This record gives sequence, C-alpha cells and structure tokens, in this order.
Amino acid sequence: MVSLDDPMAIRKADEHGMLEFYMRWADAARDAIQRARAIELPTELRTRKGVIRYGQPEALAIAGMGGSVIGGDILRDILQDEVSVPIEVWRDYGLPSWLGPGHMVVAISYSGNTEETLVAFSEALKRGCMVIAITSGGYLASLCRKTGVPLLEVPGGRVTRMSFPYLFFPLLVFLEGSGLARGLCDLAERAAGLLSSMAKDLGPETPTEENEAKRLASRLVGTVPLVYGFGWLKAVAYRLKTQFNENSKVPSFSNWFPPMNHHEIVGWEAEEELLRVFSVVLLRSRGEPPEIRRRIELTKEIALEKASNLLEIWARGSSKLEEAISALYIGDIASLYLAFARGVDPYRTESISALKRGMAELRIADKVEKEIEGLAIG
Ligand code: F6R
Repeated sequence: MVSLDDPMAIRKADEHGMLEFYMRWADAARDAIQRARAIELPTELRTRKGVIRYGQPEALAIAGMGGSVIGGDILRDILQDEVSVPIEVWRDYGLPSWLGPGHMVVAISYSGNTEETLVAFSEALKRGCMVIAITSGGYLASLCRKTGVPLLEVPGGRVTRMSFPYLFFPLLVFLEGSGLARGLCDLAERAAGLLSSMAKDLGPETPTEENEAKRLASRLVGTVPLVYGFGWLKAVAYRLKTQFNENSKVPSFSNWFPPMNHHEIVGWEAEEELLRVFSVVLLRSRGEPPEIRRRIELTKEIALEKASNLLEIWARGSSKLEEAISALYIGDIASLYLAFARGVDPYRTESISALKRGMAELRIADKVEKEIEGLAIG
C-alpha cells in the first residue's frame, strides 16, 4: 500500500512507467495526429475477390476489443449528431451483415494479435470494405503488409489502455480526411493542449488535497465504483469502469442517463448494508442539457445518496471532445492511484492473459492468416 502523498513511493510502485507515460499523453496525442496525417489512403486496393475503391464512406465501423476500440465509442458519442453517416462500434468476431462496399472499417488492435479483431479485419476485406488498420505490430501489421491495406503503426511495448491517445486521435484525422467532418484535427490539437495543461495538476507531485485524481482514488478505496455518464460522456463512463477493473483490480460497473432511470435506479431500494459497498462517480458537464441535469439531481436525491461515496468528475474544456478527454484523463489517472493505494500492480492483467493463452489453442489467428494469404495478390 502506497501513501498518495509520497511521490517517491508512487514512482517506485509505478514499475512499468504507466503514470509516467500518462504525464506525457499530450505529446503522445500530437505524435498520433502526425502519424495519422502521414497515412495516404489508396484510391483502390486489389484482392483476389475484386477491387476495393476508397473514397468518402457511407458508413464507418470501428472494430476491435477492449482498450483498442473504446476510442470508437467516444468518437461516436461526441460526433453522432454532427456526422451524417452511421458510426458502428463492433466488438466481436465477424461484422454486422449490412457492412460492405462503400463502407469504411477501421480495425484496431494494439497488440495486433486479438483474434476477434483479426476475424473482423478479414471479413471486412472479403466484403470489399475500405479497410484501415491501427496496430503496433503482430498478425495485423503483417496481414496489412501482405494485402496492401493502409496501416497506421503506433509505438509498441506498452499495454493497450495506456496507449489510448495513439488509438483514438487518429480516428479524428481519418474522419476528417475521408470528408465526413471538418475541423476535427484542430479540435484534436486543442484537446492535446488541454491534456498538457492538466498533467501537472494530476501528477504524483501534486498533493491529494489539490489533486482531483488522488482525491477520487482515496475515496474509492474499499468500495465498488459505479460510474454514470450521459450523452458525450457515456463511453467515458464505460472506459473508467474498465480502468478500475484492469488497473485497480476491482469490480466496477457503468451506466448512463437516461437509461439508468428506467431500471437501475430501482436497485437502489436495496438494504443500506448492501448499498454501502458502492461508490458512485458521476460524470458531469457544465453544458449538460437541462433535462439531463434534472435527472441527475433527482437520481442523487432518490437513490445515489445511499452510496458510500457520491463523487463527481466535472469535465473540462470547451468542446465535447475536450470534455470527454479531460474526464477520461482524470478517471484513468485516478484508477492508477487507486491501484497504488491498494498495493496492486496496475500494469499486469493476469486473467486476460490466461484467457488469451487458453483461446490460442484454437489457432484462430493462424486460420485468418491463411485466409488472407488466399485473398492477397502477389
Ligand atoms: C487493455 C487491455 C485489453 C485489450 C484487449 C484487446 O489494456 O489489455 O482490454 O485491449 O484484450 O487486445 P488488443 O488491444 O491488443 O487488441
């Protein structure tokens, strides 16, 4: 167990440099934007099944699992009322039946070895979708080289979740580049600026009373975090739940307004003793619509005040993008501090590794590789 007011002890516990890398997220975001800008999409791509023509897509799908694809949900949440084509986020083998020629599929796997993503990638290519991949290597990089699918390579050697800037910011660049939206690259640069101004406030040197991430973490110790978002902070709530799971090694769950008012709120009628295990983290925005604000305030009174802690993260910045990224940054860093305060290593995720080792016996990645080799020309 580490005292959050002991920066030396925090640095020692941060054995794999996760927190240290979070302090440099602004640079990672800028690097990611630059790398994505350097990718030139082909006008067409030939496979043994035919010619795939690249151009302005009529739909966008982002395929991947876990920390690789969460940026897709965030993108959809902040842009769905501005972009005129559907944005689908796909976390499974295969692809939805309606995707085909004229649709763009961005396959993202940080390791490049996630079997569900490899199957989706192969399916997208077979169906004639405009495919783009983002990865640090593995099978996915090698399949792109064999087929000529445009590939954005990102720096490897880290875990997916800490590489979020490399997996999210390029999506904004691709969306603008494909003609579906304007001004996203500028917004992305501004969000990077916000990350840079927030880093010090949330860093290990800033004491708990002035450090929002440390304050959150210290309240969450010994409880199950329930994170609630809304609208453009919906996927951020889910992201924080996954960070409490993977970094802090605790059960954690998320939901959003308004749906939580139509079922989950009733669960708060349970005995106080049972509810005491939960801490609530509400994601708030100064620009939240009045009906959402009213729902949140009513829900606090009717239900959430029974939780062990009722905490709020107020998003910062002046666009939906900045708000989403700032709330995510605070919550992600809080999940690291919670790991240190609990005396656990935020980096290792043994259960995921064991599961992946067990699944590897089915050799799905090798099967996909053979399929792709059959599709590739040359
Ligand atoms: C996050 C994490 C998992 C992976 C997921 C997919 O840090 O470890 O959520 O993101 O298992 O693996 P990748 O991202 O390599 O495709």
